Amino acid sequence: MIDFMVDNIGAHRITEDASVVDLGTGNGHLLFELHETEFQGKLVGIDYSEESVRLATNIAEATGVDEFVGFEQADIFSPDWSPGKFDIVLDKGTLDAISLSGMKINGELDVVEVYAGVVEKVLEKDGVFLITSCNFTQEELVQIIETNNLKMWKTINYPVFQFGGVQGATICSIAFVKRS
Ligand SMILES: C[S@@+](CC[C@H](N)C(=O)[O-])C[C@H]1O[C@@H](n2cnc3c(N)ncnc32)[C@H](O)[C@@H]1O
Repeated sequence: MIDFMVDNIGAHRITEDASVVDLGTGNGHLLFELHETEFQGKLVGIDYSEESVRLATNIAEATGVDEFVGFEQADIFSPDWSPGKFDIVLDKGTLDAISLSGMKINGELDVVEVYAGVVEKVLEKDGVFLITSCNFTQEELVQIIETNNLKMWKTINYPVFQFGGVQGATICSIAFVKRS
């Protein structure tokens, strides 16, 4: 994901000072790695786990990058969550984890039914959403994420394996662009 971002600087809203939000950031590793590259804009990690946010914040402070890399505790499905809009939205394994948990939004909706709306809410026009999944195929991810406004832009190529005459990759990353 980091290489993809660096390789695509200059496309859509991917710039060195782009604002980035990482949904379900865990220990914030992806953002710390990103900050090591050309990306020097505001990087924000969101997680509903208090422990994750505390750990990631401690790492940011201990490594002296807290001016650039910050963390907030929030439930991304909460209507009260309004962090503003970002140039880039990242998801590494978060949709996977939430969908596998079987969690229902408002007690009734599947995560896959509402996830694109969460992304659109926090993504600027012409912004890029980059997601990596080990659980969904490329076709499934496109079906979950694409809307009239969010369209697949590029994919990251990973090594492909063959089993039983069927070809596939164990991991899938897709970038989407928000049109308006
Ligand atoms: C599989 S982990 C991925 C962590 C990180 N992206 C990584 O690649 O290491 C999923 C993360 O999503 C967080 N998470 C799950 N549901 C969430 C929600 N509704 N709002 C915010 N974060 C959530 C979990 O606490 C967990 O840290």
